[in-house]
Amino acid sequence: MARLRVLTGITTSGRPHIGNLCGAILPAINESNNKDVDSFLFLADYHSLIKSQDPITTHNSSIEMAACWLACGLDLKKTTFYRQSDIPHIMELNWILSCVTEKGLLNRAHAYKAAVDKNNQKYPDKNINMGLFNYPILMASDILMFNANIIPVGQDQIQHVEIARDVATKFNHHYQKIFNLPEARIQKNKGILLGLDGLKMSKSYGNEISIFLDSNTLRKKVMKIKTNSLKPGEPKDPKSCTIFNLYSHFSSKEDLNNLSKHYENGISWGEAKELLFQLLDDNLSNYRKEYNKLIDDKQYLEGALTSGAEKAIQVSEPLIQEIRKLVGIRKIGG
Ligand code: TRP
Repeated sequence: MARLRVLTGITTSGRPHIGNLCGAILPAINESNNKDVDSFLFLADYHSLIKSQDPITTHNSSIEMAACWLACGLDLKKTTFYRQSDIPHIMELNWILSCVTEKGLLNRAHAYKAAVDKNNQKYPDKNINMGLFNYPILMASDILMFNANIIPVGQDQIQHVEIARDVATKFNHHYQKIFNLPEARIQKNKGILLGLDGLKMSKSYGNEISIFLDSNTLRKKVMKIKTNSLKPGEPKDPKSCTIFNLYSHFSSKEDLNNLSKHYENGISWGEAKELLFQLLDDNLSNYRKEYNKLIDDKQYLEGALTSGAEKAIQVSEPLIQEIRKLVGIRKIGG
């Protein structure tokens, strides 16, 4: 039986935080180690141009993200790891698919609608670039160019995978059945990971803890976590506590039970933070070491991505040839 092809893209925008680590990076790496899975992971660098038009940031984000995934343990033998921009077939398919997609389908996409809603109704499209509008077609091209089956994504991306299915169905129906219909899969994990202020950890809230902070900076971050004003000696409730939430994502069950007991016995917030810092520092120190090594080895990173692209092109090349033929783009007599 053919292995299930599981594909996901990572928009390259700055360094990821520990919420990304627990929610996306480690689960994807875990899955790529599964022998029954044909894993495709790529850096969606063309997607990043929609939001960031600073060339230095764009370039560096790709390098940082590649170093990040490798530092966190991605095994290049077990996954096809590549940069979107190294696969020209994706951009070619992007055009072909945009010609079978009704504009109305994209009018309904959440990201575009949200941008319109923010604008003055007199100029609904003000400052909205075509990249944002076409975003779902580029994402459909990422997925369909490799005929992926399963797309692990966050909640906010489900609609995009549905659009990819719609586009694939339309193409299959009009030309010939060539695309699998991809399915979104939402990562189940230990629940939401909270940020310094107690809201969900997110770069857009500015409450994140990056994965690769040095020990001192990490400690300072942990000490900034917002707590209530209960005094040392007063029993505390783990359920509503950010420190406890973060601890739970990295600790063993046994250690978590112990912390729970400390809460009942009135541990001070300072001590609880110290325990959390130790746990995070222990968990993250290897990633940090690897990351610092890799980020200085540009040649290795480039080599890794280039050979990933070669692997990916072995899949995309024959498929784009077929697609070109199906739509009638071919040599005279060919
Ligand atoms: N849009 C995705 C995100 O922001 C990233 C992405 C781009 C992607 N292309 C993809 C995810 C293809 C899955 C499949 O998270």
